Amino acid sequence: MDNNRPSWTSKYAFIITTIGSAVGLGNIWRFPYIMGQNGGAIFLAVYIILICTICFVPLINELYIGKLTKKECVGAYESIHPNLKYVGSLNPITGILISAFYFIVGGWIINYIIKSLTSCNIANYDEYFSLFIQSPIYPCVLTLVFLFICLFVTARGIKNGIESANKILMPLLAVILIFLVIVSLRLPNANLGLEYMFKPDITKLNRHMVLSALGQAFFTLSIGMGALLTYGSYIKEDKSFVKSVYTIIFSDTIFAILAGIMIFPAVFSFGMTPNSGAGLVFVTLPKIFSQIPYGNVVSCAFFILLFCAAVTSGISILEGPCATLIERFKMSRQKACVVLFAIISVFAVPATLSFGLLENCKIFDKSIFDFLDFLTSNVMLPLNTLFLCLISGWYLRIKGSAIINNRLMAFLFNIGLKYVVPAALICLMFLGLN
Ligand code: TRP
Repeated sequence: MDNNRPSWTSKYAFIITTIGSAVGLGNIWRFPYIMGQNGGAIFLAVYIILICTICFVPLINELYIGKLTKKECVGAYESIHPNLKYVGSLNPITGILISAFYFIVGGWIINYIIKSLTSCNIANYDEYFSLFIQSPIYPCVLTLVFLFICLFVTARGIKNGIESANKILMPLLAVILIFLVIVSLRLPNANLGLEYMFKPDITKLNRHMVLSALGQAFFTLSIGMGALLTYGSYIKEDKSFVKSVYTIIFSDTIFAILAGIMIFPAVFSFGMTPNSGAGLVFVTLPKIFSQIPYGNVVSCAFFILLFCAAVTSGISILEGPCATLIERFKMSRQKACVVLFAIISVFAVPATLSFGLLENCKIFDKSIFDFLDFLTSNVMLPLNTLFLCLISGWYLRIKGSAIINNRLMAFLFNIGLKYVVPAALICLMFLGLN
């Protein structure tokens, strides 16, 4: 056992950091627009059912494998079987590829914070957004600034960096979110947005939506790239973590629902459409902010909220590959962060340019940004989770009763790990590939 390995300073630190990892752009940017594209309330209902019945399985499994092996991803797989280290290596690779596009959106957020602070008026938001992402230098610089901020936190270590940042940013995020929910609910006709969110229309239920809800749930819980495995490996031997998992899942879902309550009443109040896709947060919302009293303050608060969410998740994405560099390549944490900066830039810079300068450079008919998003979300994340569930369920034969006290949950865990989650993941990958 490596005595130099860091561990969480308290249970609270573990919970808040894992919630920080879960609550990110996935909740505040992706969840509302995917819900908007999939019929509102019915999507929410399906999402909650999936979260309660199957999504906790891979979450507990990943944390447990980390806690059991006390190693970073590659070492963890290797300690199960030497040949599995190749499968394990997919995890840090996924992390690096996800960072490439996650940090680009982080750069956009910084731009919008600056815009809100400098209170300049934008006449046409659609045009502004597309011109901004197409420009060759500014988005690139901001992406690297965002990456630098996250790596700076990571380089300070678990206690002084990751834990401290989460202990400050997560409560701030909660306060700003509640403030914005109140602002949104006070707008005229806010109830239309609430109806859209909470009055399910069962006729809109379809297979595609169920699988999108599943993909969204896995992404938001940060399952599938070893971030949780690494966080799990910092849990002290004698500590049980399963109860914390319920708190984490509950909080993540509440944050997503609150993000919806913040966005949809505003969207309906101004007669806009909730299904505008990825531009919902960067085009539709700024339009709304420009029309409400103290719009700049609200806009600034909103993008700071997104920033906090993106930083706490960004550092969780980085911690997996960082721990691999530290433990396998015997680097210091600082050096590992410098190396990561270089590697991630190699992917992130072309991906940033894929909206403008490199727009004609296509991989499988997709821009570099879309390809990275597609490859990680639809292929690599489900594949990593599938491997880990099969390894735990069929090779290690882990039993729910060894980890979970509650009998029903332990039973659900057993069938989930061996059958339901692998089957669901295979369907998810087929959906993604078609
Ligand atoms: N869960 C985060 C979000 O909702 C994103 C994220 C952080 C993530 N770490 C991850 C996604 C690991 C998949 C795997 O934005």
